[in-house]
Amino acid sequence: MIQVLFVCLGNICRSPMAEGIFARMIEDAKWNQKVACDSAGTNSYHIGELPDERMRKTALKHAIQLTHRARSFKEKDWEAFDYILVMDNQNYREVVKKKTAGARASIYLMREFDLAEKGAEVPDPWYGDLDGFESCYTILHRSCNQFLQYLKSKHQWD
Ligand code: 4NP
Repeated sequence: MIQVLFVCLGNICRSPMAEGIFARMIEDAKWNQKVACDSAGTNSYHIGELPDERMRKTALKHAIQLTHRARSFKEKDWEAFDYILVMDNQNYREVVKKKTAGARASIYLMREFDLAEKGAEVPDPWYGDLDGFESCYTILHRSCNQFLQYLKSKHQWD
């Protein structure tokens, strides 16, 4: 089973949305026995909270219900996951600081898998308006789709 962890700052906007999108894609492809996902944040301000209401509303527009409860990224996540996908460069630095000797995960920027703007950051929609949440969804959907194609070819799933 391939384990994938999405990471952002607060774990209430970008990473739970990525988790919700990716979980739906896994389900649609009937790959639940091959791959699983979770999400976490590098700060601890919102631990235990549901995703931001604006993100939940945006997800629902696309028929995705977000039920994740925010949690902090932990050192042992490096050992429990195969892939860590971070939303921006700050997340990347914070996650790398917690890397352990027994780490097995590979870390990538989420948008390494965005063919439209490879290697860009996923903008944080927290301070902006609703449009920012919708464009966050679009970016994450495109990137998750491409990441799943990558896993499919790498692990020869069909
Ligand atoms: P996220 O967005 O990292 O996509 O979950 C944020 C949510 C909350 C805060 C910052 C970013 N905050 O500062 O509380």
